[in-house]
Amino acid sequence: MHLELVKLEKVFNPSILTKIHDPLLAQYQIELWMKRDDLLHPVISGNKWRKLKYILDHALSVGANTLISMGGAYSNHLHALAYAGKVLGLKTIGLVRGEQPEILTPTLQDMTKWGMSLEFVSRTEYRQLRRYKNWHDLPGLKPWQYWLPEGGAQTLALKGVGELVTEVEIPYDTICVPCGTGTTLAGIIEAVPEQTSVLGFAALKNAGFLTEEVRSVLSQSCNNWQINLDYHFGGFAKINAGLNAFIEDFELKTTIPLEPIYTGKMMYAVYDLIKKHYFRPGQRIIAVHTGGLQGKRGFS
Ligand SMILES: Cc1ncc(COP(=O)(O)O)c(C=O)c1O
Repeated sequence: MHLELVKLEKVFNPSILTKIHDPLLAQYQIELWMKRDDLLHPVISGNKWRKLKYILDHALSVGANTLISMGGAYSNHLHALAYAGKVLGLKTIGLVRGEQPEILTPTLQDMTKWGMSLEFVSRTEYRQLRRYKNWHDLPGLKPWQYWLPEGGAQTLALKGVGELVTEVEIPYDTICVPCGTGTTLAGIIEAVPEQTSVLGFAALKNAGFLTEEVRSVLSQSCNNWQINLDYHFGGFAKINAGLNAFIEDFELKTTIPLEPIYTGKMMYAVYDLIKKHYFRPGQRIIAVHTGGLQGKRGFS
């Protein structure tokens, strides 16, 4: 790995495994742990570092000096990329969905502060950008530019995600993770032993297509995983009073912060499934905290 990345990784905190203490879990005889990737770094937290690590290494290997990617006005991915670019001395360009707001969101303000150039693209153009999956795919890309698809959804991301799995030193039955593009889920599926169940929770509505997308990036077929589509709460970034109340209560009980787009919905789902006896008594479950707490600023 490039020296700049090794140096960057040195300042990271360990992602600890935290046991959740809650009488409800004891009542259903379920042991629930959280893999605290949110603690990894104040900015490049959660699955962002896991996904970006080997992509950035590759970008440096091919001699790129500019990283270009896409995301929304609260994108965790662009936020982390802008920061990583600043630290690594790489230029960054963010193609942001929708019209430029009169006042930039706190996320966009951070990105600008870290030197990212922002280009606002219409929703139609944005959808078209989703077609470009490989690092050299973006039409008009210059030889010194490196393209990252939405959410850093590249095959190279899977290797970094797999490292979170190898850090877990206790045996467990099921590992749970929220899904946007499904890249983090795919990296986990690739890394867990075959007898471990992997459960993804879609943050998007109508995300049935994700199963096929995840299957298409796996190096071999396996059937120890599935994506639950029932806990999107009306769609991406949609929330309701029940979800908010759950998050508040969970944070109070555990002091673990959740955001309502990904990890909040996943934890709500895990608790709901526990109450519905989805998991066998005696099971040990690990839920991955994928970070993204900066996105919470969109809800205050
Ligand atoms: C905090 C957080 N959790 C989970 C996800 C979903 O990850 P993936 O797109 O790899 O499914 C994202 C989006 O990248 C995210 O920002």
